[in-house]
Amino acid sequence: MLLQLLVSFLTSFVFGAKVYNCPDGWTNNTNCGYTACYYLIEADGTMNTIINDLCPKMNNLSYGASIHCADEKAFTSSTFGKACTGMYLYGVTWSPTAFVNQDGTPIDYTNWAASEPNDNTSNLAVLQTAGGSWYDVGGTTCTHILCKIKLNTKTCKNKA
Ligand SMILES: *[C@@H]1O[C@H](CO)[C@@H](O)[C@H](O)[C@H]1NC(C)=O
Ligand SMILES: *[C@@H]1O[C@H](CO)[C@@H](O)[C@H](O)[C@H]1NC(C)=O
Ligand SMILES: *[C@@H]1O[C@H](CO)[C@@H](O)[C@H](O)[C@H]1NC(C)=O
Repeated sequence: MLLQLLVSFLTSFVFGAKVYNCPDGWTNNTNCGYTACYYLIEADGTMNTIINDLCPKMNNLSYGASIHCADEKAFTSSTFGKACTGMYLYGVTWSPTAFVNQDGTPIDYTNWAASEPNDNTSNLAVLQTAGGSWYDVGGTTCTHILCKIKLNTKTCKNKA
């Protein structure tokens, strides 16, 4: 009981940070029923840019962007252009369904280009083109990574 309380307290502390506004310079948008902040960073062109945590290192509330619906895909691709997202496959045997999102959210939407994903190697990022199509690529292909912070909803019961 005590242990459960402690675990739930620590979990909410680490993972439940309440963020209501975007940091300066981030672009907000509402897609898929939630509002998030987005920011494009340049990657160093070395392997495993997602695993190297470039987004969390820049802002400890952010992850490589998970993309959850067609609107979010359309917004991010048209606004930020070609960039790797937070979806990757690392250190596991390749399969089309072995990709995960860095932020831990489920893969509930994909927009693979025809015959993608097809790289069949174990360390891959997902590159979203400016047109919104997805390709599985080696991490060195990621010259840009799209970062995302999902905002909490602030509700004030005394106001409309
Ligand atoms: C979203 O961006 C608009 C325009 O820059 C700004 O007025 C608004 O405060 C932002 N909202 C959040 C939640 O950051
Ligand atoms: C995250 O970054 C903020 C702002 O830079 C800082 O105040 C906070 O201590 C950091 N949190 C952790 C867990 O590193
Ligand atoms: C991946 O490549 C390996 C080795 O070339 C091959 O045996 C396997 O069938 C391939 N898997 C898929 C799903 O294409």
